[in-house]
Amino acid sequence: MCGIVGYIGHREAYPIILKGLKRLEYRGYDSAGVMLYDNAEIKICKTKGKVIDLEQKAQTSIDTGGKIGLGHTRWATHGVPNDVNSHPHASNSGNLVIIHNGIIENYDAIKKTLIKRGYHFQSDTDTEVLVNLIEEIKTNQNLKLGKAVQVALNQVVGAYAIAVFDKQKPDEIVVARLGSPLAIGIGENEFFIASDASPFIEYTNNALYLEDEEMAVIRLGKEVKVRKIADDSLVTPYIQELQLSLDQIEKGGYPHFMLKEIYEQPAVITDTYRGRLLPNQGIIKMSGMEDHLQKFTNAKRIIIIGCGTSWHAGLVAEYLFEDFARIPVEVEYASEFRYRNPVILKDDVVIAISQSGETADTLAAIKLAKQHGAFVYGVCNVVGSSIARESDSGSYTHAGPEIGVASTKAFTTQITVLTLMALRIAKANGKMSESDYHLHLQELERIPAKVEQALSQNEHIAEVAEIYKNATNFLYLGRGFNFPVALEGALKLKEISYIHAEGYPAAEMKHGPIALIDEQMPVVVIATKHGHYEKVISNIQEIKSRKAKIIGVVTQGDQHVRTLADHVIEVPETLEAFTPLLTTIPLQLLSYHIAVLRGCNVDQPRNLAKSVTVE
Ligand code: AGP
Repeated sequence: MCGIVGYIGHREAYPIILKGLKRLEYRGYDSAGVMLYDNAEIKICKTKGKVIDLEQKAQTSIDTGGKIGLGHTRWATHGVPNDVNSHPHASNSGNLVIIHNGIIENYDAIKKTLIKRGYHFQSDTDTEVLVNLIEEIKTNQNLKLGKAVQVALNQVVGAYAIAVFDKQKPDEIVVARLGSPLAIGIGENEFFIASDASPFIEYTNNALYLEDEEMAVIRLGKEVKVRKIADDSLVTPYIQELQLSLDQIEKGGYPHFMLKEIYEQPAVITDTYRGRLLPNQGIIKMSGMEDHLQKFTNAKRIIIIGCGTSWHAGLVAEYLFEDFARIPVEVEYASEFRYRNPVILKDDVVIAISQSGETADTLAAIKLAKQHGAFVYGVCNVVGSSIARESDSGSYTHAGPEIGVASTKAFTTQITVLTLMALRIAKANGKMSESDYHLHLQELERIPAKVEQALSQNEHIAEVAEIYKNATNFLYLGRGFNFPVALEGALKLKEISYIHAEGYPAAEMKHGPIALIDEQMPVVVIATKHGHYEKVISNIQEIKSRKAKIIGVVTQGDQHVRTLADHVIEVPETLEAFTPLLTTIPLQLLSYHIAVLRGCNVDQPRNLAKSVTVE
């Protein structure tokens, strides 16, 4: 997820773009850049780092004059964060400049074709490929910029919000959108472009939001013309008068980043499997794994290392890898692993899971593993982060920046990557039947829509939260794939509401925790209809007989648990292995609403940091 800003009008563009980028930094902050057009000259300044670093560099490197400009703050998906991979990107001729938020999946094939036609590339990005594809089409077919963009976008696969400028036609900017947001601010003889309205709300509240597969040519003194990318047909634009505050806009209209990020999960799970899960072709393609597949298929053991929520994702992965690929897995707290003088064998495969990619214990643990000759595979959300760079290979989650300290979308996108990996290995080592494999591929593609359905329980969950907001202790129980989800649900509640909570395997109750049960102890039980269902039912009966209040997370339509529990929260039916992707949603929402009702600082809970870069 990146932030894009553009301006064309009667004001100086640079101050508007710079302030706009600062407001969009929540969307990505690993590099930033600006293009300004003035006196028939294109000036570009871009740098690794934050917008403040761009501001400092621009002071000494370019003349910031000009009434047309484009700006970008990056969240890297292709190409590590550095100056040359930063946006804006210019075409080979230097006449076209683009900024882009999204992922072009088929950029590699297009790049190869363009290289054959004599194009050269400075960066590793998909975006530079797109601007040169537009140039190739514009030049070869002698088209105007708008038409060239339309033709080019019909050749790409992926997601984009783009703004393109042509030095030879400096009174217009062409924009287009598929899968990434793009807003157009309409002022008095001036136009603004941005990923959301925060960069222009102080100048105008008249906004036009492009819909998916729409594009527009923005020309000074003219009406904005919106067209369908597919067939160039005109669309009547819907211009609305925004009543949102700046703070509301940055949070996408949500009261907190955490809630916004919970609701982003269908989209970011889709982004994470985009280009990797290809059910129509019946394959999974994990670029980071393909050259090292034998290391996984030959592994006698996989060691998974992480902290906090990432460690919980590792526990889910243990069930996935052992169930699908029949490879022994050990899951380790990084902080324990690094100091306990572990046995690490040179043919061990280590998977390091980290949203930030900067957790000190996890980084130290994989360095230890590498010293013993193990192969390390990173699953990180931040491109070019320390753990990503330290790993021998890896796969990124495409969750976009996670601002809320409590991990939510990071957890489900980590599980998505780990699921893809487990299936990829099971296919390679023949441990999963063809029919089972295809069954899982097709179901995985349905998960985002099922997460959407799970989110629809939000109001009911808020009502349950109201009842239990003053509890002093909670117990979370789950079995099998949902035991790690019980741990994760307890962690969510602890870290944002400050209520003590423990997660346990449901069968462990009788080995001690049942002594805690009384009418003051709410118990959340994950009781989806799968292998352990009847056993979980008996656990619920044990708890009920001790007068605890029971909140059941059940499969849609369940009629049995509701006769025993005080409350039930439904999630859609899915394969047992995929239930964590759904059952975690109500637990995220329950902890969120309880924390809000308790007046806690949901996005920045006390004593916590988003990334624990110290021991
Ligand atoms: C989870 O909600 C917490 N924010 C914390 O446990 C986090 O998962 C842990 O610090 C690991 O962070 P990482 O994924 O960035 O390595």
